[in-house]
Amino acid sequence: MKLTINRNKKLGTINPDIYGHFSEHLGRGIYEGLFVGEDSNIPNTDGIRNDVVEALRDLSVPVLRWPGGCFADEYHWMDGIGPKEKRKKMVNTSWGGVTEDNSFGTHEFMRLCELLGCKTYINGNLGTGSPKEMSEWVEYMTGTGSSPMTEWRKENGREEPWKVDYFAVGNESWGCGGNMRAGYYADLYRHYQTFIRNYDPKNPIKKICVGPGTTETDWTKEVLSACYEGTQRAFHGFMDYLTLHYYVFPNGWTYKGEAVEFTDEEWYKSLNKALYIETVIRKNEAVLDDFDPEGKIALCIDEWGGWYEVEKGTNPGFLYQQNTMRDALIASTSLDIFNRHCKRVQMACIAQMVNVLQSVILTQGPKMVKTPTYYVFHLYKHHQGAEELDSFLTGDVQEGPKEWKIPQVSASASEKDGVVTVTASNLSLTEAVPVSLDLCGETVGTVKQARIVTADQVRDYNDFGKEEKVTEKDFTEYVLEDGKISVTLPPHSVIMLRFC
Ligand code: AHR
Repeated sequence: MKLTINRNKKLGTINPDIYGHFSEHLGRGIYEGLFVGEDSNIPNTDGIRNDVVEALRDLSVPVLRWPGGCFADEYHWMDGIGPKEKRKKMVNTSWGGVTEDNSFGTHEFMRLCELLGCKTYINGNLGTGSPKEMSEWVEYMTGTGSSPMTEWRKENGREEPWKVDYFAVGNESWGCGGNMRAGYYADLYRHYQTFIRNYDPKNPIKKICVGPGTTETDWTKEVLSACYEGTQRAFHGFMDYLTLHYYVFPNGWTYKGEAVEFTDEEWYKSLNKALYIETVIRKNEAVLDDFDPEGKIALCIDEWGGWYEVEKGTNPGFLYQQNTMRDALIASTSLDIFNRHCKRVQMACIAQMVNVLQSVILTQGPKMVKTPTYYVFHLYKHHQGAEELDSFLTGDVQEGPKEWKIPQVSASASEKDGVVTVTASNLSLTEAVPVSLDLCGETVGTVKQARIVTADQVRDYNDFGKEEKVTEKDFTEYVLEDGKISVTLPPHSVIMLRFC
């Protein structure tokens, strides 16, 4: 098999935000996973776990989306500020019916983003909130000078405004966010976004509109036809991003399949479905190209990943699942696709950061594990901010049962500061695959780094208090001869090469 890479054909800059994360008030995602409170025995900074922050900082997390998800459309931000003992409690009706004590609110989220060194993406409440509530939240966070919300923020201990990089008007408004029809949502979007004011005109907040969650494009077409003209006459942004949600349910919604004990057929189904996101992206890109040939509106895939049955014995509303080599490959193939579509896809947030769905980190009391997905994000961080290079595979072989066939190899390549980063995955359950790199006549001088993420068995995962079964190691199965590189990809593996 051959991977051709053309260093003279650059497809665009890979926005670092493609490597973003999502964390919702859901199960143990925020509480326990990220936030344990200042009085916890688990070492923390202002209540935020030090071990988790340290691991996440090593991923160079570019952006974090919060507070939901479905939760966002029932979240009233004023309940989550001020002295903790006075904060109003609520029932998290979306996720397990548990009591939410609001001890993690706006100040705590902003502190978390400060510790991570990442951008802030706030998801506003359209479902049960008002334009006043939304607009006052923005004023509270970003207001300068003297205004009621700004003064309130100061009373609560924060003098300087925060930077809100992104603000979304609702979440899945076609579903848990209000079961709206596209035309109705579009009118509400036009209305609410007006009141997302820019208190710092030099740093305008980027506005995010709810996009589709199916493989069809009707929602995209209807919302854009109702809203696009607004983007043309607005002085400040009207719609900067349109979202897209895409989950891999191996067997469908009713019985999704097990996270660890999946069958071989489910392996192929899962990866086949993961790869299908490229078709969904293409379809939405085509609609966007029609309305917006100048490319003012970007795609933001702010929920993606594998979704399985919850781990036995855990609360079904908490969406806690383990993470195997299958998840590593769902991550690597999706990220290769996002890289290749970097012109329109400017942000993506994996669902979700800690302890929920396809997480990069899992916790159990004071213990923590880095998942296979974590290690893929670690390998891929070199693509952040690099130029995507045109690349294609020839001689690829298909594998798997008839209706769930998948290619053996997925890859993408980028270049930054004269260094080329190639990521390549072998999706085969059993076969090692030799791949030679063709750099269109150019030669390789030095391999600066070669790393691999793999495990002995595809169903291996990292468990608490045990040696890691899936991890990142040096990769040695490559040959550099006469300026040409060839590699052998072990079955179910992800590699990363950096060379110049
Ligand atoms: O990520 C879990 C849930 O999936 C989110 O709350 C919702 O937006 C989506 O349906």
